[in-house]
Amino acid sequence: MESSKPLAPTRAVAVSLVETGESFQCLAGETLLQGMARLGRKGIPVGCLNGGCGICKVHIVSGEYECGAMSRAHVAEEDICHGVVLACRARPRSDVQLKVVGKMCGSVFRCAKQA
Ligand code: FES
Repeated sequence: MESSKPLAPTRAVAVSLVETGESFQCLAGETLLQGMARLGRKGIPVGCLNGGCGICKVHIVSGEYECGAMSRAHVAEEDICHGVVLACRARPRSDVQLKVVGKMCGSVFRCAKQA
């Protein structure tokens, strides 16, 4: 769950995509979107990188993470309480499982089928 404890940037963590079973690493202090880009998918869009455009929305199913500021136009307070965050603003603190939702979903899974 989300926590206000400071990030403990001591090790890489594993992040897995529930839908495809793929996984990638997030290095210490990286955001989920930075780690996800390591999958090498052309379909992973890179937007504003500061929580403003909403293109990188994900649902964290399990694991610990911390979040920076996110536009409420893209992620409602209630969504955040249920683990929906913007990947460019979320930094995992443990191994994490997530689902891709929103605008990025079509890109990630269209490309996964092609891979
Ligand atoms: S890249 Fe714009 S909100 Fe994440």
